[in-house]
Amino acid sequence: MKIAILPGDGIGPEIIEQAVKVLNTLGESFEMESAPVGGAGYAAHGHPLPEATLKLAQEADAVLFGAVGDWKYDTLERSLRPEQAILGLRKNLGLFANLRPAILYPELAGASTLKPEVVSGLDILIIRELTGDIYFGQPRGVREAPDGPFKGQREGFDTMRYAEGEIRRIAHVAFQAAQKRDKRLTSVDKANVLETFQFWKDIVTDVHKEYPDVALDHMYVDNAAMQLVRAPKKFDVMVTGNMFGDILSDAAAMLTGSIGMLPSASLDANNKGLYEPSHGSAPDIAGKGVANPLATILSAAMMLRYSLGKAEQADRIENAVKKVLAQGLRTPDIYEAGTTKVGTAEMGEAVVKALG
Ligand code: NAD
Ligand code: IPM
Ligand code: MN
Repeated sequence: MKIAILPGDGIGPEIIEQAVKVLNTLGESFEMESAPVGGAGYAAHGHPLPEATLKLAQEADAVLFGAVGDWKYDTLERSLRPEQAILGLRKNLGLFANLRPAILYPELAGASTLKPEVVSGLDILIIRELTGDIYFGQPRGVREAPDGPFKGQREGFDTMRYAEGEIRRIAHVAFQAAQKRDKRLTSVDKANVLETFQFWKDIVTDVHKEYPDVALDHMYVDNAAMQLVRAPKKFDVMVTGNMFGDILSDAAAMLTGSIGMLPSASLDANNKGLYEPSHGSAPDIAGKGVANPLATILSAAMMLRYSLGKAEQADRIENAVKKVLAQGLRTPDIYEAGTTKVGTAEMGEAVVKALG
């Protein structure tokens, strides 16, 4: 089995190194091949998603991705910016279903900014549509405003759109995920304002007919953001569009103690996938050896489960993470008094040891 390793920028290489150490300890014979992506791809080959990197990702059985982005590239024309690498990978590989499980490990109840009783026992799954919406809709750009009170001035514009088939396939993923859990699905939209999301709601409602065993409800995204911090345990599975899912999953991450704890799987129709932490390249802490590698290590576990058919190995990694947290080891983002502060490499090393 071949795994493409794409470390990227900022803390990407630091956290990926830990996940690779963990994978190498499992006693499996994975073939791993690395390639530059993001700012690193631009620096090496003049493009954030070099052809050889895309080819490696396409040919591999799964992709393990760190993070991309660096302030020094923010002034490049958009097509050359690091973020285009992850957007291009998602689009080119057809990774339309993004699974972001927000689980609170009991040991981290005090690390969340929310009261322990609000978050303890939290186990929700956010399913974010990943290849449509305003992220990819055309046309977009800066033009001369064609009408309105600012007619003739420059205006920026993007296009929000969802095709019926696009909504149907992510709805099926969400209903099927809910069937394997508590059988409750919340579809998050903005149907009260946006045509795109009234259509979304109508299609999800229609797909629901095929899943009578799942309880479906609909919630506006602003309310959903509020409910996520008010009573997050009321949710089981949430499904939403690309942009709302981006925002809500960062909010949900904080319920788990830190964004450094939230893994993700981005899947195509055949469960081929790319696995990455939900956070970014964290340029503010890059190179300091303090980033939390657990979201990346847990993403590697998701990779074993969803794409490589190695559920037992995934369990082993998840149990090792639990063990390390029970030992009281904490990177600074999840540190609290009475625990032991460790760096990125020590945390990775501890997970390796806990694998036994
Ligand atoms: P970010 O997620 O990189 O960082 C937000 C905050 O969370 C920072 O304070 C950071 O230090 C902290 N943080 C993130 N991951 C952490 C970890 N593992 N351990 C400890 N702390 C962690 O978001 P940002 O600052 O808005 O963006 C930085 C860059 O990353 C930008 O270029 C952005 O476009 C990019 N980005 C990339 C991805 C991706 O590659 N999929 C995701 C999000 C952001
Ligand atoms: C994420 C990130 C990306 C997104 C950016 C870096 C393009 O924020 O994976 O959540 O918006 O999808
Ligand atoms: Mn994001």
